[in-house]
Amino acid sequence: MNMKDIFLSNGSDKGVTGKYPHHYHTVYESVFESRRNEPIKILEVGIWKGTSHQSWLDYFPNAEVYGIDIFTRVPPEDVPALQDERCHYIKADSTNASVQTLVEEAWGEDIKFDFIIDDGLHTPTANRKTFENLWKYVAEGGSFLIEDIWPINKLTFDESRHSWIQKPAYSSHFYDMFLEALPEGYIEYDCRKASGVPDSYIIEIKND
Ligand SMILES: C[S@@+](CC[C@H](N)C(=O)[O-])C[C@H]1O[C@@H](n2cnc3c(N)ncnc32)[C@H](O)[C@@H]1O
Repeated sequence: MNMKDIFLSNGSDKGVTGKYPHHYHTVYESVFESRRNEPIKILEVGIWKGTSHQSWLDYFPNAEVYGIDIFTRVPPEDVPALQDERCHYIKADSTNASVQTLVEEAWGEDIKFDFIIDDGLHTPTANRKTFENLWKYVAEGGSFLIEDIWPINKLTFDESRHSWIQKPAYSSHFYDMFLEALPEGYIEYDCRKASGVPDSYIIEIKND
């Protein structure tokens, strides 16, 4: 099954279903395809009901799938994907530096992930802190992917008036600080046109 159908079969809004279908299947198919059958490690911050963790289990038959969440909305025992023997999780706040201690206690000091996806808290400052805390765990040749970014410097007039971003946390000041924290050469995937959703935007930072 391709990525689009896997997201669809799991009810994941990373594809074409849900209230806000993000249309990320094309991005992820191109980023992941060549490594699909490898015994990779993939970590996603933000588990919620586990539809994306189930999608990674389905897409990568030989991968170990990791997750970090604060679990205030759905407890881990109620998330079916987390019961899979290839799935591993910890309760941690990715924006707090203590996440490093928790990662290393659970998965070892030398743990590296081929892919890290940030689908946790989506403010620019949270994105920056999550990146600063977890970037060191990306394996050589791997990538860090940050989802659901509001590209403050590129929004249309209507997008900039969206109710979700009428808070100081989404100011261009904090967005600029986030972009400045990233290494040069990051890749931006703008899926807003395809999806019609204003935060359908991914930044990929490769560890080349
Ligand atoms: C959008 S949902 C994740 C959806 C999931 N990735 C999927 O596609 O099915 C966001 C999740 O991030 C978690 N979260 C919010 N702030 C967080 C933080 N600071 N650290 C870790 N997880 C966080 C929430 O508890 C929630 O489960």
